[in-house]
Amino acid sequence: MRRLFVRALARPLALAATAAAIPLVSAVPAAADSVVVGGFPVDVAQSPWTVAVSSRDRFGGTRAGQFCGGAVVGPTTVLTAAHCMGEEVLGGPPAKVRDLKVVAERTHLLSGEGREIPVREVRVNPAYDAAGNAGDFAVLTLAEALPQQDVIAMAAAGDPAYAPGTSALVYGWGDTSGAGDYTTGLRAARVHVLSDAQCRRAYPGGEEGAYLAESMLCAGETQGGRDACQGDSGGPLVAGGRLIGLVSWGSGCGRPGSPGVYTRVSDVVTRLSGA
Ligand code: ARG
Repeated sequence: MRRLFVRALARPLALAATAAAIPLVSAVPAAADSVVVGGFPVDVAQSPWTVAVSSRDRFGGTRAGQFCGGAVVGPTTVLTAAHCMGEEVLGGPPAKVRDLKVVAERTHLLSGEGREIPVREVRVNPAYDAAGNAGDFAVLTLAEALPQQDVIAMAAAGDPAYAPGTSALVYGWGDTSGAGDYTTGLRAARVHVLSDAQCRRAYPGGEEGAYLAESMLCAGETQGGRDACQGDSGGPLVAGGRLIGLVSWGSGCGRPGSPGVYTRVSDVVTRLSGA
């Protein structure tokens, strides 16, 4: 991940506000990416569990402070990526970010829609490995409750939604081109869950990173073109109405042979239940 950080810093950044979220992202210069997300606009009413994680103090107000995504899994519980709560992104420990918020029920970041709810507590998965990206999740506790209809169920281990070939949607406000074109409107892209063998082949370790089936899953399209990208991290991957993944990492965005890698939500379920 250090390699990625350096690369991203060397890149000119049009949006200084979101610069800090970018480092954790792309192993390849953005210009090398042909197409990215390949998604379509959605209204948050269709996916009310999708929230933006924001800090205007840290990232400025041009995107309401959005720097990562999150998924509502309980009225006061949001999952995001552990790396979103890392020092490289936040510039210090999460407790130092005074205005850490979740923006809920808002499609367009700059509209006044929905609610901004302060984050009361941040718990980073103690098993998170920042070097290899294993166990990339954090649990945010909100200061106010969201309605139950915003909550999405987490798919536990053995859920058929994890089967290779399953069609899934990934949601976010991230880069739509791989060149720093951050959207202010929520988008989704359709991708398919791949087998662990395919994911391992794509990411055998070394330069491209290592796929670890226990805490990760991967999804994409053989021809590329549809994927999550920078700024989508922590956001939901949903299949069969259940949460199966959180946007975590990938090599470039939407490149054939380099699927998106997600935090496997069944591992989150296992760890949260203390098993
Ligand atoms: N780590 C990125 C972020 O911080 C997400 C990268 C996802 N990349 C991908 N090709 N699916 O926003």
